[in-house]
Amino acid sequence: MPQTVRIKTKREIAEYSVEIARGNLGNAGRWAREVLGGTRKIVLVSNKRVFDLHRGQLVKSLKSSGFNPLVHLIEDGEKYKNLGTLEQILEAFSRFEIARTDAVISFGGGVVGDIAGFAASIHLRGVDYLQIPTTLLSMVDSSVGGKTGINTEHGKNRVGSFYQPKGVLIDSNVLSSLPKREFTAGLCECIKHGMISGKGLLDQTVSVIEACHQDRVDILKNEEFAGRFESFLADQIAFKAKIVAGDERESVLKTDARSRKILNFGHTFAHALERATDFRYFRHGEAVGYGILFAAEVSKKLALLDGKVVNLLRDVVLRAGTLPSLSVVESDQVFQAIRYDKKNIDGSLQWVLLKEIGKPVIVPHSQIGDGLIRRTTKEFISAQ
Ligand SMILES: NC(=O)c1ccc[n+]([C@@H]2O[C@H](COP(=O)([O-])OP(=O)(O)OC[C@H]3O[C@@H](n4cnc5c(N)ncnc54)[C@H](O)[C@@H]3O)[C@@H](O)[C@H]2O)c1
Ligand SMILES: [Zn+2]
Repeated sequence: MPQTVRIKTKREIAEYSVEIARGNLGNAGRWAREVLGGTRKIVLVSNKRVFDLHRGQLVKSLKSSGFNPLVHLIEDGEKYKNLGTLEQILEAFSRFEIARTDAVISFGGGVVGDIAGFAASIHLRGVDYLQIPTTLLSMVDSSVGGKTGINTEHGKNRVGSFYQPKGVLIDSNVLSSLPKREFTAGLCECIKHGMISGKGLLDQTVSVIEACHQDRVDILKNEEFAGRFESFLADQIAFKAKIVAGDERESVLKTDARSRKILNFGHTFAHALERATDFRYFRHGEAVGYGILFAAEVSKKLALLDGKVVNLLRDVVLRAGTLPSLSVVESDQVFQAIRYDKKNIDGSLQWVLLKEIGKPVIVPHSQIGDGLIRRTTKEFISAQ
């Protein structure tokens, strides 16, 4: 007789803190000890560029708390967020004899964070993992929410896991060495959060963009501004965390305004731009800058969003910094790439659009139609 055994597992609810302060690298040892307790070994995963620039305070602080960090450096760049690099990291973990009671710390931007997190989630079926993000994008976006993964020849983030870190440490001082282009890319993700969250976060983002316009490095050293900037980071992160808490695994069937999918605002077009240019031309955040404007444009065409709001959003994105020209991009290739987007569910692509600032809405591609998207893609690319 057929049998059914019902198995109930208690869903793991992860709770962790994001600590944000200038000079926090100097507190990393105490922080890691507090978060990890009696953990024996830690392995730092980073890349040469970040590690050379900022290891001093970090390693000193970890040592003073009794850690003797092992180090594994990966190559720098999105093209190394792949299976080969993952294999090397896992090989290093085994060579270092990293046990279940040990821990991994990622120290770098989103590339390092995503791949180190994924490696931590599968080494011995999961070892503790902490993040120290060093780009603006990784501070406000990729270090929070537990998405880890790698790219494959079939697309971005094709293989990965949901794996929450035990803690995140942010030292805003490290941003002073971040190239302007990377800063602009991070600001674009911040604008994205502002647009879907509401006027409060969008205004705060605009005021940070204004303040950083002249000289970001100088302004970050300013005591008064640094405090404001840290609150800004905290509000950005709190917004993302709130959405993630309501829909940790981005449920396929959830399509209301609280779905985690709303965080993909601007990303359908952004991923298509990245794919059409072989992931070499845009920084991810730059493509998102165009992507959110494209989504606003489609929203206007569907009479969801007022044209004045679209113009305002365009100004905000332009103020964030110069984006690479779209003149090298073939609109038909971008349109074809949209169809490959991984948010393609059972063949029906879903768009995150905007009814007004702070009011995202998920609309199936079938309700919009190929014609409008193809036309808007062409107009949008030739108008930039
Ligand atoms: N997991 C998520 O939820 C999530 C969310 C958004 C983006 N991502 C992923 O994040 C990645 C993009 O992250 P990114 O924009 O941080 O890119 P990145 O990790 O490639 O870093 C950008 C560049 O800045 C350098 N860098 C980092 N910190 C620096 C510092 N303080 N000073 C000087 N140089 C520094 C890096 O070496 C690199 O060359 C993509 O792979 C994207 O898919 C993941
Ligand atoms: Zn993104």
